[in-house]
Amino acid sequence: MSALRRAAVNVAAPALLRTQARAVSVSAAAASPASAASAAPSNALRPLPGQTAHGTDNPLMGGLGVSALARPAGRQSVSGIVATVFGCSGHLGRYVVNHLGRIGSQVITPYRSIDGMNVRHLKLAGDLGQIVPIPVDIADMDSVRRAVARSNVVINLIGSRYETHHYSFDDVHAKIPYRLAQVSKAMGVERFIHVSAVGADAKSDSDLFRSKAAGEEAVKNFYPDATIIRPTVLFGPVDRFLAYYAYMAKHLAAIPMTQGGQRQVEPVFVGDVALAIMNSIADPAARGKTYELGGTKVFTEQEIIDLTAKHTVQNIRTFNMPDSVARLYGSIIGGRRDLSWLAESGLIGAPTIAALASKLSFPSVFNADMVAQKHTDLVSSRRFPGLDALGVQHPVTLEAEIERILAAHRAEPLDHFPEAEIMKRDAKDNASF
Ligand SMILES: NC(=O)c1ccc[n+]([C@@H]2O[C@H](COP(=O)([O-])OP(=O)(O)OC[C@H]3O[C@@H](n4cnc5c(N)ncnc54)[C@H](OP(=O)(O)O)[C@@H]3O)[C@@H](O)[C@H]2O)c1
Repeated sequence: MSALRRAAVNVAAPALLRTQARAVSVSAAAASPASAASAAPSNALRPLPGQTAHGTDNPLMGGLGVSALARPAGRQSVSGIVATVFGCSGHLGRYVVNHLGRIGSQVITPYRSIDGMNVRHLKLAGDLGQIVPIPVDIADMDSVRRAVARSNVVINLIGSRYETHHYSFDDVHAKIPYRLAQVSKAMGVERFIHVSAVGADAKSDSDLFRSKAAGEEAVKNFYPDATIIRPTVLFGPVDRFLAYYAYMAKHLAAIPMTQGGQRQVEPVFVGDVALAIMNSIADPAARGKTYELGGTKVFTEQEIIDLTAKHTVQNIRTFNMPDSVARLYGSIIGGRRDLSWLAESGLIGAPTIAALASKLSFPSVFNADMVAQKHTDLVSSRRFPGLDALGVQHPVTLEAEIERILAAHRAEPLDHFPEAEIMKRDAKDNASF
């Protein structure tokens, strides 16, 4: 019995015990064909056409050693995976948890909010009791230990596009992964999947990309066989890519651009990245590998803005901003950390900076590091395997989803009821009698 399987069977939390009981009855049914026939519902869930198969027929799951427990795909089946998904409350997290839940995995969903409301929606991703929210304070080793104690897989999706007063890029992308990998290793977690980013490079001008490179190294200290996933830029229903341009267009007369809008991006659908992550858990070939996950087409930033303009039915004006000006602008609205140069200059004291930062700062909209990030194209380098190597054969295209993603940002109302014109005409005709 593999360590992963053993860990799956040894789970002890009440919610997890229910699955254990079901797993045992599944095994018993498998031992007795007659009872299996009577127990198997005639409408047993099967993978949908085009959906990756999981369960007893899937060689990947066999590779995990969970095939005796596994049933055909479905939230009520038992994949044998018990996964803790750090960063589950984010954009990618909901898709990862859903993919895990739909094959009958137990998913621990750590949250740092006071009441866990930001992970409550994830409960729907799994069968009753299979999605287990746990409060975690990342600074408290014991709480991290509790979050991974019963898991055989840990997935780290924690990340941030801007620094806050409490967390630098290095804290979020290097120190947190170090801690998660260290604790997971000590607790005997078998698989560690770490989400980094295309652009991760120890020599990058960008603090974010340097911290992402440091995070990959930190994880490999403890898990040389960790799978590193580097997405390019995610698009999806609640992304901060297309929606970012739509938001900027709504609030600014013109969007400042560096690089003349010629930076290249290869957006990838968030659901495809989540599926690739899930497939990597069970694929022995994914151990110790780095993947770069890009989409189906490379665009320039200007082309993305033009598409956003088309689908939000508005004119989006842009103007080129030199790097030096953009950096200054970014450091003024980039929050307290970006304003630290003012404190160092001795011109303004810390309390004034704190007051300025509270009034001026919009670091998620723009910050100085974003200027440095723009020097890196968000395109897979082709030096690493991509989506297809992780079983995602037909990635979703941006063109197929963009209209729905941007529907809420349209400047003009949708023509929901074209029959309104006919109704108006009919009313007029009737009135003339
Ligand atoms: N989105 C992209 O285009 C893109 C591209 C390349 C790589 N990535 C990487 O993919 C991963 C997931 O991205 P995403 O778009 O899903 O990110 P997201 O929506 O911003 O979610 C980030 C997650 O990280 C958690 N988090 C952030 N700072 C934290 C801290 N100091 N302590 C504990 N938790 C913290 C957040 O928790 P709270 O909800 O509590 O804040 C949230 O769950 C990240 O590592 C990101 O860098 C994303």
